[in-house]
Amino acid sequence: MANNSWTRRRFMRIGTGAIAAGAAAKVTLLEPRPLWGFAQIVAPSDTVRFASIGTGVRGCELLEASLRVPGFECVAVCDLYDSRHLAAQEAVKKNAPATRNYKEILDRKDIDAVIIAVTDHQHRKVFVDACAAGKDIYCEKPMSHTVDDGFAMVEAARKANRMIQIGSQRVSSILYAKAKEIYDSGKLGDVFSIEAYWDRNSASGAWVYPIPPDANEQTIDWNAFLDGAPKRPFDPVRFFRWRCFTDYGEGLAGDLFVHLISGIHFITGTNTIAQRAQSTGGLFRWKDGREFPDLIETFYDYPNFRIAVRCNLNSEGGEFIAFYGTKGTMIIKDTTLTYLPQDTRPQPESYSIYGWPLQLREAYLQTWHAEHPLPSPLNFKVDEQAESYATPKGYSDIADHQANFCNAVRTRKKTVENEDFGNNAAIGCHLANYAYFNKAIATWDSGAKKIKG
Ligand SMILES: NC(=O)c1ccc[n+]([C@@H]2O[C@H](COP(=O)([O-])OP(=O)(O)OC[C@H]3O[C@@H](n4cnc5c(N)ncnc54)[C@H](O)[C@@H]3O)[C@@H](O)[C@H]2O)c1
Repeated sequence: MANNSWTRRRFMRIGTGAIAAGAAAKVTLLEPRPLWGFAQIVAPSDTVRFASIGTGVRGCELLEASLRVPGFECVAVCDLYDSRHLAAQEAVKKNAPATRNYKEILDRKDIDAVIIAVTDHQHRKVFVDACAAGKDIYCEKPMSHTVDDGFAMVEAARKANRMIQIGSQRVSSILYAKAKEIYDSGKLGDVFSIEAYWDRNSASGAWVYPIPPDANEQTIDWNAFLDGAPKRPFDPVRFFRWRCFTDYGEGLAGDLFVHLISGIHFITGTNTIAQRAQSTGGLFRWKDGREFPDLIETFYDYPNFRIAVRCNLNSEGGEFIAFYGTKGTMIIKDTTLTYLPQDTRPQPESYSIYGWPLQLREAYLQTWHAEHPLPSPLNFKVDEQAESYATPKGYSDIADHQANFCNAVRTRKKTVENEDFGNNAAIGCHLANYAYFNKAIATWDSGAKKIKG
């Protein structure tokens, strides 16, 4: 009997060790997609002609990535800051016409689509006008600056029947597709707890971006930037570090939570708004006049699971999402995905029977082992089931996300991240900030489409 027990325990320990080793040892490199099925050479009639509205950091990144998408051609660029016209032309490697006035772009009948990469507080205005002008839209995340903005955008897209892609590009990542496959396979069992963080520890990570030397009221249309926000004198800090201020951005929630929430929604097949959110955090280090915390942690209630999300600008940690299931754990860490099965075979009670007299303990164990014969080692595969995947060097989920949009514009088939998906994820950010600033539990009222305290 004692011998049998020892054998089983030893067997389990070997199994567990092998799982950890297996997970660390073998990483499968994922195959990049053939950019949503399109050949490298696209007929002129299939070319999607687009303009980029907002050509700052992200706008230029998107323009560069667009060069990898077959048949996706930039024909105009627009920004309120003149130097960004040149930056955009350099990014797209052509002398595309440039303007400060996005309405000139919307008036052009030869433009099929627009990329909207303006500051968050201007998303609604540009998006609604672009819908009315009949353009399909790739709009950067977070879709909305406020809850009302989001629903106005959903309504505009629906009314004008536009193809919309919101810009949380992880949703198109081959790593997230693999994570979804594992999640959907049931290998994790039931997942009730999901944890995510995105931590950074640098001035750039905290949005302390340098102010370019030619920034002034002549080179920047400051009044147009302020549209939809309170009037105030020219302030380059607000223009270039807008994420720090509530008039234009949503702080860490709008910048980073939205990626994590979108990824979790995509993997779990969730397309709803969290029911409740509770936040904590504070402004501990980057006390430069900003209005948002540099640490925020939010706990969300969803019908079938709970999510804990954190962003901390005071320690490097990268990007992380973990799904804790009854049969296994799945972790995304930056560009790597790991699945670890858990040993869910029945085990004899050991801890609580220490309070039993020896005779009862032995009788219990004898009965237990008689009822649970050891599995044959050859049939026992738990230790071989750990899996690890990574994206190949240079892989870009941005090009994948744009290609999915471009293909949807051509085929009129749904994008991976339409306006409803984008709106739901953005409301998660608004719930987090509401709970933080009001020191209250934020509750989503789906009837009124409002957050309540
Ligand atoms: N998906 C991602 O990973 C990702 C990464 C970074 C930024 N973003 C998003 O992209 C957007 C832009 O961010 P950024 O970092 O490029 O900011 P940025 O400040 O570098 O650029 C924003 C640009 O928008 C321009 N702009 C604002 N209103 C305009 C208007 N009405 N017409 C024309 N131009 C206008 C400004 O002049 C500015 O140059 C934001 O919504 C941000 O959240 C997404």
